[in-house]
Amino acid sequence: MAGDRHDHGTRRQRFFARWYPSSGQRFEDAGQSALRERHLARARGRTLDLGTGNGFSVPHHPTTVTDLVMLEPNPRLRADLQRVTSRIRAPRWEIVDGDAAALPFADATFDTVAASLLFCSLPAPEVALAEAHRVLRPGGELLFHEHVRGTGVHRVLHEVITPVQRLVADGCHPNRDFLGLLERSSFRLVDVERLPMPGTPTGLVPLVVGAAARD
Ligand SMILES: C[S@@+](CC[C@H](N)C(=O)[O-])C[C@H]1O[C@@H](n2cnc3c(N)ncnc32)[C@H](O)[C@@H]1O
Repeated sequence: MAGDRHDHGTRRQRFFARWYPSSGQRFEDAGQSALRERHLARARGRTLDLGTGNGFSVPHHPTTVTDLVMLEPNPRLRADLQRVTSRIRAPRWEIVDGDAAALPFADATFDTVAASLLFCSLPAPEVALAEAHRVLRPGGELLFHEHVRGTGVHRVLHEVITPVQRLVADGCHPNRDFLGLLERSSFRLVDVERLPMPGTPTGLVPLVVGAAARD
């Protein structure tokens, strides 16, 4: 939000950073945390975690990750991240400011890009997908863990709540069709699991969790 930003982030970022870490913890305890552990098990080598937030995924990057780069544009969440660095298993790590749609990294410099609950928040998710593809080495993988629009009555609900959700959740679009975006990108889908977000009733917050390859 131009003109609204100062050293502590935009008003929208500050608001999000106030409620997300505590309310998100409920879903972590309900099974998100276990899902992250299982899903991130295939991360390896130099790994970029996009939109790391307050660090719910941080302890789940496995020991096969040699370098963990955590990109997070919200200054308050970067401060939270500093508090969980003792739980990082990778020998080398860094926290960087940046935008998933304009990654500050050279081409083909990562083995894994991981994103959880990120693409819903981006104004131009197709640009961020192209950026993730650009920074991955051939053979590298994008590990995604995203909430997506539902079907039937839930799809209608997701359309209706999107304007409000965008305001209160730092740009989050519950009506996003992540798999459609992926299909139109240069990635090749490797596998995908569809399941409800742990701790939520079936259909309300559908997740797609899987991997896509950069050939
Ligand atoms: C719903 S949170 C998810 C945080 C974390 N990945 C998780 O799984 O808990 C979305 C995150 O994306 C970040 N984000 C928003 N816009 C971004 C952008 N343009 N580039 C990178 N990250 C962004 C937000 O600051 C926030 O940390």
